[in-house]
Amino acid sequence: MSIVNIKIDGKDFAVKEGEYILNAARANDVFIPAICYLTRCSPTLACRLCLVEADGKQVYACNAKVKEGMEISVDTPNILEERRAIMEVYDVNHPLQCGVCDKSGECELQNYTLELGVDSQSYMIPDTKRETINWSSVLHYDAGLCIVCERCTTVCKDMIGDAAISTAKRGGEPLDKAFKETMPKDAYAMWNKLQKSVIAPSNGTEFTNCSDCGECTAVCPVGALTGRDFQYTSNAWDLKRTPATCAHCSSGCQIYYETKPASISDRDEKIFRVSNEWNYVSLCGAGRYGYDFENRVDGKNEEAFTAAIEAFKKADVIRFNSVISNEEALMLQTLKEKMGIKLINPDARAFQKFLNAYSGVSGQSLYSLDFKEVMATDFVMSVGASLRKDNPNARYAFNNVQKLNKGAGMYFHPVGDNLVPTFGKNVELFTHKVGLEEAALYLIIDLFADKEQLPEDVKTYIDSFKSSATKTVKEKVMKDVTETVIDEETGESKEVTKKVPEMVEKEITVEKNGLVELLGKDADAFAETFEKMMKKKETFSLIVGEDLYFHEKAENIAKLIALLEKTSPVCVAMIPPKTNSLGVALICDLDDDASGYTVAYNENGDFRLSALGDGDLDMPAMNQQEGTLTNMHKRVTPTNAALEYKGYELNDLMKVLVDAPDETIDWTVELPKEKGFQAVEFDSLPNGYLNDGTENRGYALSTKKKRAKVLKVDKIDESSVLDGEIVYRCNPQRQFNDFSDKAHEIFESFGLYASPAKAEALGEKVEISFETKSITVSVIADERMEGDIVALADFKSAEDVYGLFDGSRYKTVTMRKV
Ligand code: SF4
Ligand code: SF4
Ligand code: FES
Repeated sequence: MSIVNIKIDGKDFAVKEGEYILNAARANDVFIPAICYLTRCSPTLACRLCLVEADGKQVYACNAKVKEGMEISVDTPNILEERRAIMEVYDVNHPLQCGVCDKSGECELQNYTLELGVDSQSYMIPDTKRETINWSSVLHYDAGLCIVCERCTTVCKDMIGDAAISTAKRGGEPLDKAFKETMPKDAYAMWNKLQKSVIAPSNGTEFTNCSDCGECTAVCPVGALTGRDFQYTSNAWDLKRTPATCAHCSSGCQIYYETKPASISDRDEKIFRVSNEWNYVSLCGAGRYGYDFENRVDGKNEEAFTAAIEAFKKADVIRFNSVISNEEALMLQTLKEKMGIKLINPDARAFQKFLNAYSGVSGQSLYSLDFKEVMATDFVMSVGASLRKDNPNARYAFNNVQKLNKGAGMYFHPVGDNLVPTFGKNVELFTHKVGLEEAALYLIIDLFADKEQLPEDVKTYIDSFKSSATKTVKEKVMKDVTETVIDEETGESKEVTKKVPEMVEKEITVEKNGLVELLGKDADAFAETFEKMMKKKETFSLIVGEDLYFHEKAENIAKLIALLEKTSPVCVAMIPPKTNSLGVALICDLDDDASGYTVAYNENGDFRLSALGDGDLDMPAMNQQEGTLTNMHKRVTPTNAALEYKGYELNDLMKVLVDAPDETIDWTVELPKEKGFQAVEFDSLPNGYLNDGTENRGYALSTKKKRAKVLKVDKIDESSVLDGEIVYRCNPQRQFNDFSDKAHEIFESFGLYASPAKAEALGEKVEISFETKSITVSVIADERMEGDIVALADFKSAEDVYGLFDGSRYKTVTMRKV
């Protein structure tokens, strides 16, 4: 990263080359007024408030890049006049309902009006009615309050990838022409647009493209876009903010739980909403709306506690999933070490084995990239993940690469999805057969690896897929054509030879890549497309998902990934399957099989500890706990209790069963250093972001070097290819576990998700017969799915969908209409 030297208002700063002036200023704590610009998204120039003077010229700070020696003035008299006029215009006809507006107290219109000293109004125009509308189950849009800053449309397109909303015509009164002559020009241009526009669903009147993430409500600077459930329930200043880590998936996003007493009569704290540092992190619908999953208990149930102690004393097995903290994982590991109880956790175990196979060959304990680094690449690939559903951060990264980095992408997945191609024009989809994931990896190795570095047998094997063929192509050639022309002056005729273009056919020899054909694409067409995709690309990333950890050939695939990293510029990021699968995989020595008396934690067993309120002994949910989680970015982040918990915790059991410290968070410092954790006390862990966007939450795991084994990879095993009726174990968007299911604003239900055509063919309900058991479920049409593979949700542990799939993510089944 090169550094350039600039001056802002006479002060010297060393900033990143190529940075926008606004970002450079923010990183150095210099304030430049700005409304429309969102860090991590493209500038839209909607507000024009960020005007500055750079080397004597007026520029927009969000859109002009720093240069060596640049001298910037933030406030010149002309700029101050423009800014004040812009704020006056924003205040024209803005409804005077601040007393009841949800944004009051944290409204950027209020703040900038005060900041820029607007105490009188120079402009007016008759108001026109603008509709208030509920867009979806969670979104409310008040067009009257909207200042058309386009933050919502920008975040939806550039970050989320749905592009569900855009500006639309509103038919406001035209501006008086005289304003054009009399008012500052940027303020006039902004007003002209504001007067003509509102925000509307991008596909007309229907509102079907939205994934209900609520990020548009987070970035809205005024009260125009709000959550329906939160509307009119609280003022910002009444709410207490508890910094935490979202507990739903392995993204581990930064969030604040915002609480206050439930009502005048009920003084127990209640979570009213979740907010986020939206400049640096984007949430999904589960993170934003799935917050009320707490387990309220009246007090300590001593009888249940005694029974739990007895259960642990006779336990052979502890069965648990990864919606637990690192500290709790360490407690369970301690029980294994001190009491010999086996630990069963299928999601973390599959991931652990995959990581081990990868590390064995790569020599690194962890995958190389985090997902913020993926966002910075300009060519991203994804294998083995349902990008839209498995993990929002992976999907946002894939989309963001296309939108901001003029990037390209390749998406390998058996389940058809019509959202991913909309991320960018350089996205190629390989909707391949289930079981051909090894072929996808071999193709990526072929496309990106330095062949000289590949083991000879791998090179020969890849070459065996190549063949030559002749192809007829049309080519433009310039031909000499001689014409007789009459000289206009002399009247004499003469011959003139000209070059004219002509299309001719010719035969060429082309190399056919059988790997491309095996993955369901035309090799010729792909070769041409790939050449275009690679233009001006310098940084390459691969996202790896859960399908691969549960693959029959998982170990070989992990080795192929390590081989790819060793021999090519492609770096890898992995999506841990559940919230804290990475933490559990590093902390616990997990078992493959175990039987006997089972104590279960948020799972099924003979004695159940449950944070869902339905077990033999209650436990606190993640929004009632202090502790840490290890997220997909390989970062250990703290989470805090937003709500009180009056019952027993796992550490209370530990104190009776083995030697244990006083508090759960006393375990934080004990997390295993040899696995990359640090000896940091919980209370010393930071939880925020710096002004330049640097993440200052917890700490990054350190990657340990290992001795790499000699590489030996297998060929593609086509016997693992599945045919027939195939069911995929996959949750709908916004559903990750029993806790997201418990939240009252998450509506996606348990069932079988199918493309609209497949859903119609299947009918309302089907019986699915697996090898061991049958299950009857409702069929739910998913407009974004394509093809015949159907998806069975696994978020309800009571349904034991993991058990039905028996350590796999795809199964061949028979289905019968019920
Ligand atoms: S909720 Fe999310 S997907 Fe829907 S419009 Fe807002 S930003 Fe776009
Ligand atoms: S709804 Fe909010 S974020 Fe969207 S354009 Fe209007 S004011 Fe801006
Ligand atoms: S922030 Fe630059 S134009 Fe709005």
